Amino acid sequence: MLIDGQPTRAIRVDADAVAIIDQTLLPHTFAWHRLRDEPDAAEAIQRMRVRGAPLIGATAAYGLALAARVDAGDAALAAAAERLAATRPTAVNLRWALQRVLARLRPLAPAQRAAAAWDEAAAICDEDVAQNQAIGRHGLELLRAIAARRPGQPVNVLTHCNAGWLATVDWGTALAPVYAAADAGIAVHVWVDETRPRNQGASLTAWELDRHGIAHHVIVDNAGGHLMQRGRVDVCIVGTDRVAANGDVANKIGTYLKALAAHDNGVPFYVAAPGPSIDFRLASGADIPIEERAADEVTHIVGLADDGVSTRVRLTPAASHAANPAFDVTPARLVTGFITERGVCAGGEAGLGGLYPERMR
Ligand code: MRU
Repeated sequence: MLIDGQPTRAIRVDADAVAIIDQTLLPHTFAWHRLRDEPDAAEAIQRMRVRGAPLIGATAAYGLALAARVDAGDAALAAAAERLAATRPTAVNLRWALQRVLARLRPLAPAQRAAAAWDEAAAICDEDVAQNQAIGRHGLELLRAIAARRPGQPVNVLTHCNAGWLATVDWGTALAPVYAAADAGIAVHVWVDETRPRNQGASLTAWELDRHGIAHHVIVDNAGGHLMQRGRVDVCIVGTDRVAANGDVANKIGTYLKALAAHDNGVPFYVAAPGPSIDFRLASGADIPIEERAADEVTHIVGLADDGVSTRVRLTPAASHAANPAFDVTPARLVTGFITERGVCAGGEAGLGGLYPERMR
């Protein structure tokens, strides 16, 4: 994507380190953050300086490359991969990327491993960009078809969380079709769920769309059902952190409620899913681990005060406990279809099997 006119990826190699955009500072501050070693990479993933399934995978791959520069022995690499894998449990891309780098390094002599790990991490990033561009091309045709049915009116897309370029290396998953449509001259308007508690929609998706000049409104998480009832949503497109073999979809908490509302109102509900986010080893979404995050993400909120100072305030009574499941699972029956790098398919096992026959169990 363009930042100040410059093509910019969400992760890049910067001299002898890796640089990421510190997403904890957005939307008010855009700053690069350097990862100099594997603990830096683990901290960035755990603290959500980087987030979004594909970007977590890319960062973990570079984390392992950074570890290999220190000690490329089998035991050290296995331990580093364990530490990185433990940072966040739900997005399968994290483990997928680590396994891929380890598999590349295993047959090599330790002296060759650091360079090879670096290459493999770069390849993961390049492939992510290509996959997301393909998702954009395929999703564009869905949006084009909607636009053709409603000439002169914008296509209203509802999305949840941030599955834009910040959640990936570039282009995004759910937002790739939106960017492709806008670039093709199709008028698009996006309803952006704020996505409590971390507000990835309000902070990140809104920032991205604004940078790209795409019309959007941020809405509270509970507004989507009402807008769908009133015919103000043409299509929902969300990302995913892990899809099970039966087509159940883990995504940011609150996605399931949007899928229910979409189903009740006859609004198509699409999941943009690159191949590495599909976990064919898991029979159903019941097997997907759901991350529980800290209670203070619910009890407190950070924002910019009117004097321009970033401020953290408490929302709840001091004595109230809070629970914070970070993801939910949308059953396959509520998913109209998947938008993947291989094309669009129907939701459910048969659809996925048609696109990825070689990966089915
Ligand atoms: O907790 P996060 O911000 O890392 O959440 C992951 C996500 O970005 C979303 O669930 C997204 O929709 C899927 S990743 C493209």
